Amino acid sequence: MSFSAPARALYPRIFSGIQPTGIPHLGNYLGAIRNWVALQEKADQVLYCVVDLHSLTVPQDASRLRANIRDMAISLLACGVNPDKSILFQQSKVSYHAELAWLLSCRTPLGWLRRMTQWKTKKNQQSECLGLLSYPVLMAADVLLYKTTHVPVGSDQVQHLELARDVANLFNSAFDDNSFFPEPEPIVGEHGRVMSLRDPTSKMSKSDPSDLSRIELTDTDDVIRKKIRKAVTDSTSEITYDPLTRPGVSNLVSIYGGLTGMSNDDVIRHFVGKDTEAMKSDVTDCVIEYLSPLRKRIRELRLDEKYVDETLDRGCKAAREIARENFDNIRNVLGLT
Ligand code: TYM
Repeated sequence: MSFSAPARALYPRIFSGIQPTGIPHLGNYLGAIRNWVALQEKADQVLYCVVDLHSLTVPQDASRLRANIRDMAISLLACGVNPDKSILFQQSKVSYHAELAWLLSCRTPLGWLRRMTQWKTKKNQQSECLGLLSYPVLMAADVLLYKTTHVPVGSDQVQHLELARDVANLFNSAFDDNSFFPEPEPIVGEHGRVMSLRDPTSKMSKSDPSDLSRIELTDTDDVIRKKIRKAVTDSTSEITYDPLTRPGVSNLVSIYGGLTGMSNDDVIRHFVGKDTEAMKSDVTDCVIEYLSPLRKRIRELRLDEKYVDETLDRGCKAAREIARENFDNIRNVLGLT
């Protein structure tokens, strides 16, 4: 009789994070969260983190932040993050993240950080602070702390992950051990970039001052209807997919495809003979139908704070245990023991 080795998961160790902005928007969902849920079935170790430390690069009201952390955890659970399959936790409760960020920051060249697109854009929009510049180092720490192999994210985070790979390589060379930190690979879905409904040349974002620019998972049917009706398109009525020349229509095609599981080409075929107005009406119905069970689940979970807090506590304990072992190794290699 022969024994075969246990099959290795396709994605050995998954980690991803989301800022505590309260309720996620459709971009967060289609770009990341939906993949998070699917990947739970395909990995040996899965960690999903509400990255509250990252959110501090802009001033936060304490009670608002506290509520937003819980609301984000609730939303993730409502979307299908399953605490029996993944470790769901709050970043600041595992202090190794900040400690490792310091250790990594002592070797990360400033030039690497100054090249980051997000730094270049945000430093002109808000007051510069050290945390904004070193933000990707904390992100690298999040990922490397768990020896992560794969990171499901929207396309806007890919550059930060490239930096995390460079930091991993820097330390691997310094430690003379090519496999100390695995190089984390991004996993980006076909609909990895959802654009603003008001300005479809920029991404859908929580920081956009216009509420009309994004659909949040708890928006009511009427609000969804209004936002899609007012979505910026163009004067051509035919439905085509060309994000460069027709960003507004292409964004709606992509949202429809993302929610129905259709490719963009299939969506175009589906809408042959229909105009933008008819398409907006179909997209509206589809978004409402998709989001209504999530909205209901969010409402239910909001009534069960105890369950949510206990789930986060359980996740924190599990994450801390993995992090402690890895961090002790890092301290050892650096000579801090
Ligand atoms: P955050 O909180 O801005 O967004 C969370 C996830 O949602 C994706 N996303 C989008 N995807 C498609 N279209 C959009 N319009 C859109 N907006 C947001 C993001 O790509 C992300 O996957 N720095 C990260 C959080 C983070 C992290 C990490 C991620 C901290 N540490 C470690 C991965 C691994 C951020 O601010 O994401």
